Amino acid sequence: MSQWHDQEWVDEKLWVEVEHDELYPPEAVTKIDGAKNLISSFDAAGKDVVDVGCGTGWFGELFQQRGARVIGTDISPTLLAQASKRIKTVKASADELPFPNEQFDAACFFMVAHVLEEPGLALHEISRILKTDGKLFFAIVSPDAEIWDEKTKLCSSNKQLLNQEKERVWVFNLKDGRSFTKHYFHRPLPYYHHLFAEFFQLERELQPSFISQTFPEGMYAEHEYYFAELVKKRLK
Ligand SMILES: C[S@@+](CC[C@H](N)C(=O)[O-])C[C@H]1O[C@@H](n2cnc3c(N)ncnc32)[C@H](O)[C@@H]1O
Repeated sequence: MSQWHDQEWVDEKLWVEVEHDELYPPEAVTKIDGAKNLISSFDAAGKDVVDVGCGTGWFGELFQQRGARVIGTDISPTLLAQASKRIKTVKASADELPFPNEQFDAACFFMVAHVLEEPGLALHEISRILKTDGKLFFAIVSPDAEIWDEKTKLCSSNKQLLNQEKERVWVFNLKDGRSFTKHYFHRPLPYYHHLFAEFFQLERELQPSFISQTFPEGMYAEHEYYFAELVKKRLK
């Protein structure tokens, strides 16, 4: 799989700055609270966990802090360099993971599915490398997210897109005035439910009904994240 949006992430130095320059005010970082909540009932001690599309590796590190053996994979050398300060890493695309069948107790696939053109390929790979009853911790930009930009007075609402699969552009404004854009695919939740059903059983969904996340420059987002906990489907 090699698409324009893969290339976009390959050497993303500005994304690293977003993570490290704390673009988001700490009180607004709902992603981390949501992630902690999502994995709270998972007994990570001694487990093997893979963080697919690990970015800077912060999510994999949460498992490691709870006693898991963690490996992160990503296609971006820049992001892998950051992640490897936190967890073990290997460069690999999500649709071709360099691991044998049934190696892991759990996988995270966090905020990656919406940047992939065919996330089903990655979900298939993830299910292959998970043990029977292995867990998948999943997150995407919420299909219900609404982002208000005070500067342009525009509200971009994912809800308006209803049943269409659409490419969207997210603009990140850095504190120093620079900005960059990221593309992602907006898909309604049934799209993902349908994909999950092929490989996983959905155990829990978390879509906080009202999260107001404040960005600098007068932008804020409401219920930005959708989280899900899934378990690998047993073969019949
Ligand atoms: C929005 S970031 C999320 C990173 C991290 N999981 C997090 O939650 O902060 C999307 C990540 O997907 C990675 N990515 C994009 N295409 C990929 C692919 N085909 N295979 C693996 N990772 C990919 C990017 O390099 C980037 O790290």
